Amino acid sequence: MDLNTTERNEIGIAADSLAAAPAAKKVFVKTYGCQMNVYDSQRMTDALAADGYVATDMVDDADLVLLNTCHIREKAAEKVYSELGRIRDMKAERAGTGRELLIGVAGCVAQAEGAEIIRRAPAVDLVIGPQTYHRLPDVLARVRGGEKIVETDYAVEDKFEHLPQPKRAEVARRGVTAFLTVQEGCDKFCTFCVVPYTRGSEVSRPVAQIVAEAERLAEAGVREVTLLGQNVNAWHGEGEKGEEWGLGRLLFRLAEIPGLARLRYTTSHPRDMDDELIAAHRDLPALMPYLHLPVQSGPDRILKAMNRRHTARDYLALIDRIRAARGDIAMSGDFIVGFPGETEADFEATMQLVREVDYASAFSFKYSPRPGTPGAEMPDHVPEAVKDDRLQRLQALLLKQQQDFGASLVGRTIGTLIEKPGRQAGQKVGRSPWLQPVIVDEKAGEIGDIIEVRITRTGYNSLFAELA
Ligand code: 5AD
Ligand code: SF4
Repeated sequence: MDLNTTERNEIGIAADSLAAAPAAKKVFVKTYGCQMNVYDSQRMTDALAADGYVATDMVDDADLVLLNTCHIREKAAEKVYSELGRIRDMKAERAGTGRELLIGVAGCVAQAEGAEIIRRAPAVDLVIGPQTYHRLPDVLARVRGGEKIVETDYAVEDKFEHLPQPKRAEVARRGVTAFLTVQEGCDKFCTFCVVPYTRGSEVSRPVAQIVAEAERLAEAGVREVTLLGQNVNAWHGEGEKGEEWGLGRLLFRLAEIPGLARLRYTTSHPRDMDDELIAAHRDLPALMPYLHLPVQSGPDRILKAMNRRHTARDYLALIDRIRAARGDIAMSGDFIVGFPGETEADFEATMQLVREVDYASAFSFKYSPRPGTPGAEMPDHVPEAVKDDRLQRLQALLLKQQQDFGASLVGRTIGTLIEKPGRQAGQKVGRSPWLQPVIVDEKAGEIGDIIEVRITRTGYNSLFAELA
């Protein structure tokens, strides 16, 4: 990417000056799903700024409402349709007022459902898949000309090269932590998962593009960057001297950027944790000691049916190696209960694996059959009531582990990145190395500072601390 060109185009300036003009069009973006959607929403906002749109937090104020959707579980998609119902009513109320409302659906539901969305919700004006966001301004121009547009063809060109970068003030406004997509898509085809169909096959962004984006973030005051990818640890690229780089090497390079004090990456697949990445956990102080490494299930029979391509023993052995490299690493994971064919004994094997790993935090879900995935076609679907019961038991165990982990930090001194004012007067909220919110006195430090604090007690999900 030619960064200088982006610099000269500086679309954010146009957006800011338009903010003062009464005629500025406003876009309200609502984001569902994963962190990559959060990142994508920001990049779409940046692309729309070039088209004269400023972002608004108030849906009533918007000329364009964009829903950036998630298709990972059934409820996620259904939520979008009920939200569309509400926005359709708003659009009807606006009719004849001279202030038209445009409705767009972006993201993974857009990719998966395409034109079906407009059939089911005719008030929708545009449907745009995750690989075509850079075409948003063109699409909008056609929509204003009266067309309804469905744009879900995978673009040949690299969208990242075409999406404008936000201006410095906009990055600063977004805070001292930021996401940066380095890899997108998935070739693993776990049998429960829609991602290979909605995000396409694995693509890694080039080193130079990633380094340039990280430098821009750091220059604007970002202190912590989370590298994103559906299979982030499968990222690979050509290094600055033409050699092959994996994620570990990339992390070492990003750690050299002045101002970037903390690095994270998510989400990883156990099969792609290579030696260099584990070495990065050992040797790189900037790499936070927290690893989201989903296993999904405990019993080998179910892991095989899920096409995870590893056993429980492989996973546990991997965690042993990671913990040997970085003793204070805290593990996080994802779990699915009630995959087709899961018996009570299988579920107990999942509980046993959770006990062995001892997670600092984790996400757990009931299996939700996704149309077009092999899992949906498998026999022996588990009754909903059984899924509910297993989810409850698993979540109780995971919550206990999370709270025990928090309690183990009481009395310890840890680094904390001050992020924002607290909800209560006189407080600021920081972020621990393990992603817990840390509540401190507002005088403990300025936003963006990394300070040493002593943990005094735990809240439900947060830590309370004083300056060490
Ligand atoms: N049903 C339930 N949970 C799912 N996930 C992915 N697909 C499904 C599905 N069909 C979960 C996995 C994944 C997380 C992002 O969502 O645990 O890691
Ligand atoms: Fe949801 Fe997956 Fe799409 Fe993220 S990539 S929005 S989790 S379906």
